Amino acid sequence: MTDFISLPFYDLFHEKGHVPEIQEKLPPLLTDVRRSILEIGAGTGLITTSLADWTPAEIFALEPSTGMRAVLLSRLCARPELFDRVTVLPCDALSVALDEPVEAMVMINVMYALEPDYRKRLWPVLADRLEPGGLLVFTWRDGGAPSERPLKELASRQVGRHTYTVFSEILESDGPEGEACKARYLYQITQDGRLISEEEIVGHSYRPVWETLEGELVGAGFVQTEAPEGLLAWRLA
Ligand SMILES: C[S@@+](CC[C@H](N)C(=O)[O-])C[C@H]1O[C@@H](n2cnc3c(N)ncnc32)[C@H](O)[C@@H]1O
Repeated sequence: MTDFISLPFYDLFHEKGHVPEIQEKLPPLLTDVRRSILEIGAGTGLITTSLADWTPAEIFALEPSTGMRAVLLSRLCARPELFDRVTVLPCDALSVALDEPVEAMVMINVMYALEPDYRKRLWPVLADRLEPGGLLVFTWRDGGAPSERPLKELASRQVGRHTYTVFSEILESDGPEGEACKARYLYQITQDGRLISEEEIVGHSYRPVWETLEGELVGAGFVQTEAPEGLLAWRLA
């Protein structure tokens, strides 16, 4: 599983990566949410505990990766008061089963991982699991697939005597009109310039252009509503 290569690096790089921006932009969209939130692709729970802090809602944190889920449950162990309000669902988004429809759904930095056919099948499933008028919020940036580029350092962090560094390279790209790209990620640990470990992941990611996404969501019964740059918000009609 490639997950286990990137997992030790996840919180190190993301806690100060996308999380501060989400913590600023997401709460105003959730002010009316009281009863229930489905978080799709909860990962290690970096957003999950914040959802529980921002709202009184019951949280369903869906995460298919065993490794990510293990860290998420560890995070919940540090917040035992949340045990009666957060349920961790060990399945992928298309397989989600809920006892009743939820009031809101949140999907942060997940869509890039969904193949186009999977994504198209997902919206009607989410519409079916959402209350009428319910809210769907997810991260998205316009511009299609990133262009091909050589290996470059993304970020580096010191942990004791070791330096953790992530590099990435775009190997193939459909370009700005398309959505798929093939990227290589290198996960490196060094000490004083000496290599301790180095592992790589090569995989595809997807950045649908606006017209594609709008067609899919409107087709599934969603109507767009206001959201800050970097997020899209939709209500079930
Ligand atoms: C970059 S992480 C984001 C995690 C978390 N939302 C955050 O913001 O820190 C992407 C997550 O999406 C999950 N994921 C990938 N494919 C998925 C699918 N088909 N259904 C649900 N989650 C999925 C991955 O396992 C991973 O935990």
